[in-house]
Amino acid sequence: MLLINDGDTSYAKLKTVESGITKIEYMQADMLDLEMLNRQFDIVESVGVLHHMVDPVKGWRVISNCLKPSGLMRLGLYSSAARQSVTKARALIKELGIGSSSSEILKFRYEILNSSSELGTELRDFVGWTDFFTTSEIRDLLFHVQEHQFNLIEIKSIIARQCKPTHRSMQPTNQAENWNL
Ligand SMILES: C[S@@+](CC[C@H](N)C(=O)[O-])C[C@H]1O[C@@H](n2cnc3c(N)ncnc32)[C@H](O)[C@@H]1O
Repeated sequence: MLLINDGDTSYAKLKTVESGITKIEYMQADMLDLEMLNRQFDIVESVGVLHHMVDPVKGWRVISNCLKPSGLMRLGLYSSAARQSVTKARALIKELGIGSSSSEILKFRYEILNSSSELGTELRDFVGWTDFFTTSEIRDLLFHVQEHQFNLIEIKSIIARQCKPTHRSMQPTNQAENWNL
């Protein structure tokens, strides 16, 4: 098994060792370079990564090319239907010119929790999201510089264009219950 991440892999190492998973190779690299390894995998999993890439379809193609003919691919992508409230919040944040530094995020959270300003009223529901309470998670949720979203029609079309017919596909899981066509 190969675990690839463009950042530090120490936390992944820690968690996999803790859970007793062995025989993992860890590699700090850009997944766009995966084909240089010249290896083919039975299963490729990429959750929460492609939708933050400049060109998600390019990343998807690289993964597909590294999958064995009867391989299984499991992807986690943002759903445009499920993220409607996030899209609205991102637009408001942009309109108000709120930056993503730690101090700005701290002020942003404080304002949502403590005021009846536009932010407070429009974004109060995010207090129910666990991501709201840590700076890195709320930055990922509402301030990420690069966010692509998909619907099932787009996914179907990408699969038709670039996955091999022998590749197996899975139905969306319950995490995708808000998906629509
Ligand atoms: C939102 S996290 C998701 C992590 C994990 N898969 C999960 O579900 O919790 C996205 C991860 O993708 C990594 N990443 C983003 N672009 C990448 C790339 N081109 N190559 C390798 N890793 C990348 C980031 O460093 C980050 O660790």
